[in-house]
Amino acid sequence: MLHVVRFVARFVYGAKLVEMIEHFRHTPMNILLIGFMGSGKTTIANRLANNLGFEFIDTDELIEKNASKSINEIFTDEGESEFRKLESQVLGELEGRERMVIATGGGIVSSDDNIERLRKIGIVFWLDAGVDSILERVSRNSDRPLLKTNDPRKTILALLDQRHKNYSECSDERMPTDGLSIEEVSFGISETARLWFAKRG
Ligand code: S3P
Repeated sequence: MLHVVRFVARFVYGAKLVEMIEHFRHTPMNILLIGFMGSGKTTIANRLANNLGFEFIDTDELIEKNASKSINEIFTDEGESEFRKLESQVLGELEGRERMVIATGGGIVSSDDNIERLRKIGIVFWLDAGVDSILERVSRNSDRPLLKTNDPRKTILALLDQRHKNYSECSDERMPTDGLSIEEVSFGISETARLWFAKRG
């Protein structure tokens, strides 16, 4: 049956739709959360992993473990471009595994290569938060080197603008989070993921 749908889809809508169907069918059973710093990725990933009985992974934590340094130290000692290399390496380590909920760093979508990798690993949910809630959350700690500027709001707006297209391109599902509780966002994600996984061939 599916081959007929695929044939008709290719004929009527072209390769893009076929690619979408293939992606839908073959996505491994993992959930990835992308989105800006302070959008709640780690908290929500933790909650989801507990609820689904999946392993919780945080790419920033893995990078710190691999480098035996904090994110702040990596940025200070080696710079952002080295950090980005470590970030890509960690994604490589996650390929081929299943039953994970993965919280990623806010800038992981900066390269096309990472976007492709993320989409191969699992369903990608974009936690889309507004600047006010981001500011409120990130002001609680000082572990984000990119926001140590004179005007964090301005920095956030500029980075959001720069990254918006990549978050959108990388994600399978966009989840606006403003005004929603952690439970509400987690519930929305787990129900959507259940549908994806249930309909796979
Ligand atoms: C970064 C986000 C951070 C961390 C690093 C760089 C970014 O992760 O990876 O400070 O470029 O947006 P969180 O999104 O978990 O804060």
